[in-house]
Amino acid sequence: MAEIEAVAWRDDALVLLDQTRLPGDEVHLACRSVDDVVDAVRRLVVRGAPALGAVGAYGVAVAMLQAGREGWTAGRLSAEVDRVRDARPTAVNLAWGVDRVRPFIAGGVSAVIAEATTLVAEDTAANRALSRRGADWIEAHCVRRPLRVLTHCNTGALATTGWGTAFGIIRELFDRGEIERVYADETRPLLQGARLTAWECARHGIPYVVQADGAAASTILRGLVDVAVIGADRIARNGDTANKIGSVGVALACHAAGIPFVVAAPSSTVDLSTATGADIEIELRDGAEVTAWSGVAYAPEGAQGFNPAFDVTPAAYISAVVTERAVVEPGGHVSVEALVKGETS
Ligand code: MRU
Repeated sequence: MAEIEAVAWRDDALVLLDQTRLPGDEVHLACRSVDDVVDAVRRLVVRGAPALGAVGAYGVAVAMLQAGREGWTAGRLSAEVDRVRDARPTAVNLAWGVDRVRPFIAGGVSAVIAEATTLVAEDTAANRALSRRGADWIEAHCVRRPLRVLTHCNTGALATTGWGTAFGIIRELFDRGEIERVYADETRPLLQGARLTAWECARHGIPYVVQADGAAASTILRGLVDVAVIGADRIARNGDTANKIGSVGVALACHAAGIPFVVAAPSSTVDLSTATGADIEIELRDGAEVTAWSGVAYAPEGAQGFNPAFDVTPAAYISAVVTERAVVEPGGHVSVEALVKGETS
């Protein structure tokens, strides 16, 4: 089966699988201007931290081509590249992707595209490697077989450049014959779990159920889950981790139940320049996303929505953080730096 391609570069355009239309329609959107890119990122046509890293990198090429067509100054180009970089604040990968290719602007658009393509290949390889590490860790720390795994939001190929992070670990465990069932939290308000993770489970034949976010704690405390695995949008230097709203509740329930709560991400999601979770900017989205669906309001007229898109799980509630380079158990002897630099001690 062909791997899902959420982000691609084709015919001088950034081509995105429109995730707002899934699972009903598989439609692609070509971005040829900075406005197109920023709009796609803000509407979650493309989402998930590693996928946003690729969008940041290719977004610079989009800006350069537009600069050529419209005769922008170097200053205007730089400002437009910053607009891509700042389109969403929480996932560090978006800014990281822009910053990675920025030094190649002087070499022309083909140099930027080449570096972006390298970034994509590295991300997919990182996902494969961290999935093996994460699966090994879970096999070593969970006794019951086959495993019942809970996940939150979508962290599969749709959220990355290929394979997936937390969902990549689930795929790896499934390939090893270890999965009994995946509990996919629906992930309110935009249903990345019910729409996207369920779609990816079905594509791969992974047994799954969708549950309301409000069911997660109870499912865990009733002993129906062996391990929870989630992705990350930014991992601070102390191990605090920002991820989709609802993640911290899963972590607290795992802590209470005494089961592992595992965070999986490529090293590009580790932000050593952010000291703690309190320093992570949490995206506040339009309140209408929690008072209406598909433009139809279900809350009373005039109801105000409060819609933080992410939360921060303190490192104390995380059993293990997995990247392609290391597994760190917060509170253990190996520091978070190893997630980026590799385990040396
Ligand atoms: O708002 P989203 O859909 O971009 O949020 C995505 C998440 O929170 C993911 O769990 C995270 O980016 C990791 S994706 C591998």
